[in-house]
Amino acid sequence: MLKQSVSPRFKARRTELMKKDSNACFVFFGAEELIRNYSVHFPFRQHSTFHYLTGYDEPGAALVLVNGESHLFVLERDESHEIWDGERYGVDRAAKVFDTDFSHSIRKFNQKLPELLRGAGKVYYLLNDRECIHPADRDQRVLKLIYEAIPFRGKGNLGNLPVLDPTPLLADLRVLKDSEEIELIRKACSVSANAHKHLLKITKPGMLESDLETEFQYFVRKHGLMQLGYNPIVAGGMNATTLHYVRNNEILKEGQMVLVDAGAENELYTADITQTFPVGVTFFQAQKNVYEKVLEVNREIIRLAKPGVSYRTLHDESVKMLTEGLKSLGVVLSGQESFRTYFPHGLGHYLGLDVHDAGIYHEQGKDYVLKPGMVMTNEPGLYFRGNETEYQGIGVRIEDDLLITENGCENLTHELPRTVEEIEALKS
Ligand code: GLY
Ligand code: MN
Ligand code: MN
Repeated sequence: MLKQSVSPRFKARRTELMKKDSNACFVFFGAEELIRNYSVHFPFRQHSTFHYLTGYDEPGAALVLVNGESHLFVLERDESHEIWDGERYGVDRAAKVFDTDFSHSIRKFNQKLPELLRGAGKVYYLLNDRECIHPADRDQRVLKLIYEAIPFRGKGNLGNLPVLDPTPLLADLRVLKDSEEIELIRKACSVSANAHKHLLKITKPGMLESDLETEFQYFVRKHGLMQLGYNPIVAGGMNATTLHYVRNNEILKEGQMVLVDAGAENELYTADITQTFPVGVTFFQAQKNVYEKVLEVNREIIRLAKPGVSYRTLHDESVKMLTEGLKSLGVVLSGQESFRTYFPHGLGHYLGLDVHDAGIYHEQGKDYVLKPGMVMTNEPGLYFRGNETEYQGIGVRIEDDLLITENGCENLTHELPRTVEEIEALKS
């Protein structure tokens, strides 16, 4: 079903962005349709930034912001196309539904852009966008149009318009979530946490990793969320020590733990949750020892995360605690070995439209501090890949999603059972 209207927040975000540099022109492109094989496409997902600024949900679009006005360029309506792929918004409807000042056919883009650049002092355009299928071709086309804009600027020989990267300006906006975004993430987290809880209850020896993936998908879809925010990781036993294991095709055995890292998207905002639990009913002692060390860190980070504290401080604290934890488990770091052998990733990352969301962690040697409205993951882990200890083959990650509030943080994934006792009680 096509949207009838979108929240006024989308327009407010465009206004905020333009305020950051009022004599600039901003140029953005939406996602393209991506061929999977021959005539089959991957499911379409809008480019995160394009969604953030428009709410527009069809491929092949562009957005130009200039002089305080928004120009949305969209695909035209086309009956022969609509027979196969369904109704499009088309040019006239797009401006009304997405509340832009103007809408144009995307076919007019090359003609309109140089006109719109008239009077602009600079252009923000992301070169080499990793989400573009052929970034070099698009960059060449856009840069040529920017060059063509020079005659509109008179005969002052002012040179080419400077082209700047919009990423830092967008990161500043996107890292602070507004109340609507928070509600979307809150629901993504709640549905995903309950889907994880469901897995915990039904998992038994003999099931396949893919059975858990299927059950997770089914649960979230039954609860109204249609896609996951990233490829889920369902890693039994030793597979949990491969950080981004996504084959998910092995049998789960008694005596193993399984690590599940999966999160559903709600209107493009994703949850990012990991739980690690026994395939059977109870943890073995070595598994329990490792699990409880990781949980201790996860709980301490929830206590420490608050406005004014930097991400780096939290990461450093997790490293300190995990290093002490390893020592108390009898694991001695030897020679060149560092904590990275057992904890090779960071404590977490911002979360939102992208699982690893927009936002700056440090700049020019200065750490950014947390502010109310930021959402970040809290995902300490310990992974024993080598043969050296009784913990060999154990991988544990415990990942929650935290909303930074005025006084501390809210654990958006609090519905998950986390202690050994809570998990074993749900499994028996
Ligand atoms: N699911 C990817 C991550 O935890 O960063
Ligand atoms: Mn994560
Ligand atoms: Mn994750």
